[in-house]
Amino acid sequence: MYTPQAGIFALGTSSHVYLEFDLLDASKCKEFASAISAIREPRTTTGGVNFVIGFRPELWGEIVPGDMPVGVEGFNKSIEGVEGFVMPATQHDALVWMSGSAYDVVFDMARSVLHDLAATAKLGEETSSWPYRHDRDLTGFVDGSENPTLLDAPTDALVPEGGPGAAGSVLLLQKWKHRTAEWEALPVEKQELIMGRTKADSVELEDKPEDSHVARTDQDEFGNIFRRNMPYGNVDDHGTVFVGFSAEQKRLSKMLDSMAGLVNGKRDALTRYTEPLTGSYYFVPSVESLRGLR
Ligand code: HEM
Repeated sequence: MYTPQAGIFALGTSSHVYLEFDLLDASKCKEFASAISAIREPRTTTGGVNFVIGFRPELWGEIVPGDMPVGVEGFNKSIEGVEGFVMPATQHDALVWMSGSAYDVVFDMARSVLHDLAATAKLGEETSSWPYRHDRDLTGFVDGSENPTLLDAPTDALVPEGGPGAAGSVLLLQKWKHRTAEWEALPVEKQELIMGRTKADSVELEDKPEDSHVARTDQDEFGNIFRRNMPYGNVDDHGTVFVGFSAEQKRLSKMLDSMAGLVNGKRDALTRYTEPLTGSYYFVPSVESLRGLR
């Protein structure tokens, strides 16, 4: 029985940072893996930090051959959707996602991670995030309503036992900038048609339009995933960090194709008010695999 990284399921934390790294020297991937696996959270209870460590799939294949489902790939090329809509590929080599009860503990820990990895990798992208109005994203809608419960999430998010990469997960990390002024200029009824759910209490619309966000990402069609989205940014420039875990990469990649209009020609209406700035896939190995790197 393999064990997933606990941070995947650590709900309720109010401060997050996503650090995406690039190797300084590709031939030193084993040294990097050993440094990243040596990261330790502070040994405290209330001041603790959760970690999720992920690797560019092709890099993980080099570090531990055969410890990942066959065919998992990085976000290596941008997705060219309909009407000129593009989701950019901004793949990095590794991700360290930290979350905790307050930003000071996350900040201190993030600085120490940067220091510990400095000999082998440089920071490619940093994003910090925080909850908004309890459970809403910056569109003002409740985010996560159709997530599986914590009892079901492992089945949806983790590679099953008995094959390569057991208890690992495929993570899609994408930063979406919101066009807040344009979004907020819409009447609530129009926002609800775009999302496919009501705004106040997140009830799914009976006759949701085909281009609504929940129609374009319908889990009955594409398979279940486990989302940990968070708001990011400042008052002038902000949006959603999409953080999605899946047992199978194709559920996530199909949802992206669908949002881009490549499944049935209907582009997700939410993409008219939000713009993807980044896109990376990471393989998040089991704790046993990470321990094996020491
Ligand atoms: C700007 C970016 C995004 C925002 C603000 C956003 C927001 C939301 C909201 C408010 C819901 C409805 C409530 C819920 O079930 O959580 C939802 C549903 C969902 N979203 Fe997103 N989302 C974004 C991007 C994405 C992306 C990139 C994916 C997939 C790769 C995705 C996958 C899903 C799925 C699977 C559902 C549930 C669909 C169902 O009802 O089965 N979302 N999202």
